[in-house]
Amino acid sequence: MSLSLTTILSLNLLLLLVNVNSSTMDPYKTLNLILNPNGTVTRLETYPQSPPSPDPNLPTPALSKDLTINQSKHTWARIYLPHKSPKSKLPLIVFYHGGGFIFYSAASTYFHNFCANLANQTQSVVVSLDYRLAPEHRLPAAYDDSVEVLHWIKTSKDPWLTRHVDYSRCYLMGESAGGNIAYNAGLRAASIVNEIKPVNIKGLILIQPFFGGTKRTPSELRLEKDLNLPLIVTDSMWNLSLPLGVDRDYVYSNPTVNGGGKILDKIRLFGWKVAVFGCDGDQLVDRQRELVKLLEGKSVNVVGQFYSGGRHGIFVGDASMSEKVFDLVKSFY
Ligand SMILES: *[C@@H]1O[C@H](CO)[C@@H](O)[C@H](O)[C@H]1NC(C)=O
Ligand SMILES: *[C@@H]1O[C@H](CO)[C@@H](O)[C@H](O)[C@H]1NC(C)=O
Ligand SMILES: *[C@@H]1O[C@H](CO)[C@@H](O)[C@H](O)[C@H]1NC(C)=O
Ligand SMILES: *[C@@H]1O[C@H](CO)[C@@H](O)[C@H](O)[C@H]1NC(C)=O
Repeated sequence: MSLSLTTILSLNLLLLLVNVNSSTMDPYKTLNLILNPNGTVTRLETYPQSPPSPDPNLPTPALSKDLTINQSKHTWARIYLPHKSPKSKLPLIVFYHGGGFIFYSAASTYFHNFCANLANQTQSVVVSLDYRLAPEHRLPAAYDDSVEVLHWIKTSKDPWLTRHVDYSRCYLMGESAGGNIAYNAGLRAASIVNEIKPVNIKGLILIQPFFGGTKRTPSELRLEKDLNLPLIVTDSMWNLSLPLGVDRDYVYSNPTVNGGGKILDKIRLFGWKVAVFGCDGDQLVDRQRELVKLLEGKSVNVVGQFYSGGRHGIFVGDASMSEKVFDLVKSFY
């Protein structure tokens, strides 16, 4: 088996190192975390990070800079602006990174590169949120942050936003756990559309979103021991990120409970476009197909983009698959 550099840099590094055969079922061990006596955790893996690059003379795909969202929560965002700003204003993409709610940041090279290319290739301003991670901050902390950034965008006087953003064309996008966050941020935003004006959401782009449930799906069983994303890893991530005392059939992890909720009717009425990306080599694929079916049943304008083969993480980790996402975004515009 040969591993490309992209693969090495991706979440797969973590997942190849985890103790898949752990019989202890200790979620901290499985995820290579140490639980400290004072309640904090130490993450034993580190991932490459990239600094922001605001210098227009550097040959980057897009300019970037970091701005504080809420100091008391240590949340911030990395903002991306295409190099040649056209005269007309650009759509805005709010991006939520992946990592099982537990790992990575908006500064991770893996997501930084994706967002810079996304900004350039789709000619969008991208706001990539560094939300609070579990298990220090269990859900709904990340959802709270994911909506707080929309309020921040509304009030921010930063010139990259005020000069270059068409607030009437806003999309929420996320990958893996970030796809789950984008979906839940969308549900929350749909109930407060007047509060976040002029920020106007037009769609959700969910890339291999991380969802779960107690009853195993065929793809979870088929790919249970898949080294790329074994079931024990996703189980552990839920155990450390869901609120204490709930199981995977909670609404945060399983969007099909309660038939998806009444808010989906609003999303249909608003005419939001929803795209769900997935591939057969990902144990999560059946949950992603279920979500598409749920939204279709609600007559939401949803498109499923499913591919054969592949693996979890391929749409960020593999440039040719990232193109599929960029093409979809351009078709939405
Ligand atoms: C997750 O939590 C459940 C309930 O406490 C437990 O039965 C299960 O073994 C845990 N799984 C992992 C992988 O930690
Ligand atoms: C908690 O313990 C860890 C590991 O010993 C240490 O690095 C960290 O600073 C401590 N944090 C607090 C808030 O005491
Ligand atoms: C920006 O995107 C265009 C295609 O839209 C591409 O031709 C160009 O190489 C990209 N620039 C960089 C620096 O990646
Ligand atoms: C920042 O977070 C704190 C703590 O949750 C909250 O009380 C405050 O309202 C937030 N500030 C803003 C500007 O949203």
